Amino acid sequence: MRTVLRAERDRGISLYQRAEDLESLEAAQTVVLGRKSAFSEIQRSLGALDPDERRDVGKIANEARQALTEAFDTRRSAMDAIVETALLAADAMDLSLPGRRARHGSFHPLTIVERELVQVFTSLGFKVAEGPEIEDDWHNFQALNIPPDHPARTMKDSLYVSVPGHPELLLRTETSAVQIRTMQSQPPPVYIVAPGRVFRRETPDATHSPVFHQLEGLAVDEGITFADLKGTLEAAVKALFGQDRRVRLGPAFFPFVEPGCEVGVSCFRCDGVGCTVCGSGWIELLGAGMVHPQVLENCGYDSERYTGFAFGMGIDRVALLKYAIPDIRMLFDGDMRFLAQFEGVA
Ligand code: DAH
Repeated sequence: MRTVLRAERDRGISLYQRAEDLESLEAAQTVVLGRKSAFSEIQRSLGALDPDERRDVGKIANEARQALTEAFDTRRSAMDAIVETALLAADAMDLSLPGRRARHGSFHPLTIVERELVQVFTSLGFKVAEGPEIEDDWHNFQALNIPPDHPARTMKDSLYVSVPGHPELLLRTETSAVQIRTMQSQPPPVYIVAPGRVFRRETPDATHSPVFHQLEGLAVDEGITFADLKGTLEAAVKALFGQDRRVRLGPAFFPFVEPGCEVGVSCFRCDGVGCTVCGSGWIELLGAGMVHPQVLENCGYDSERYTGFAFGMGIDRVALLKYAIPDIRMLFDGDMRFLAQFEGVA
């Protein structure tokens, strides 16, 4: 009996030590100490032994059981530690992973250019004015000397808005309408710039969009001359494109100015030589002229006393040139891969 008890003790301890998980540990315990085990059988038969023998064998049995219990507990806590380490490892932070940076928003290229333009003109003393995007025929055409047979007035070129009771509403085709609204709302002198969206019936392609942006300028005061127009535009163009730029004026016709002109700037890439940006060496930037006396009169201004100049430029065109953007539609697609490239200044 003593030999069997010791052998069972050693067998049990080694079974426990080899157990890989809780389940096999408990199975080993049943094998060694369960009701049908040699161990239990011996303990059950102790009663039949004589007292001295019983005490002696009983002591050995208790010691063996205690040794087994200790071995069981040791193995079990070792297993718990392994599980805990595994759980911790699964839960651990990987400090070598790169951080996720919060991306700053960026300004739309049109916003950047518009703010820059407004900044240049407000620093010259101009105020910002606004007007509605839906205009009536009088502000968009008649008051600007655009006669009834002018092609801009056909359905082919303008986008009319159908509002019952208001037959002549359209999406404004140029920011020049803001000139009229400003003069109607205040007496001279006027020094304003009006940035905004304009709309024309165009099929979109690389250089045309049915929605685009203009910046209108208007100065009306006593004694304003063509030299003021030229000086103002020259200062603005240099502030925008660099002090080395040269400005050139050529004759052009716009119904609301007389005389009218087209203003070009020497190309900022090739400085007038001719390159892929400009073609001819010059970039046509804007239309301008001296406000037609009839336009002043249309707004109730005394054209004998007051004179003025006006100009209008395409903001989209400046943005395309400045950032070398090949297609105007990119400004309106809302593609973040494109837009996120612009940083922008507030
Ligand atoms: N409104 C013109 C256009 O859309 C641009 C323009 C030309 C505006 C001459 C002006 C101007 O104020 O004097 O093409």
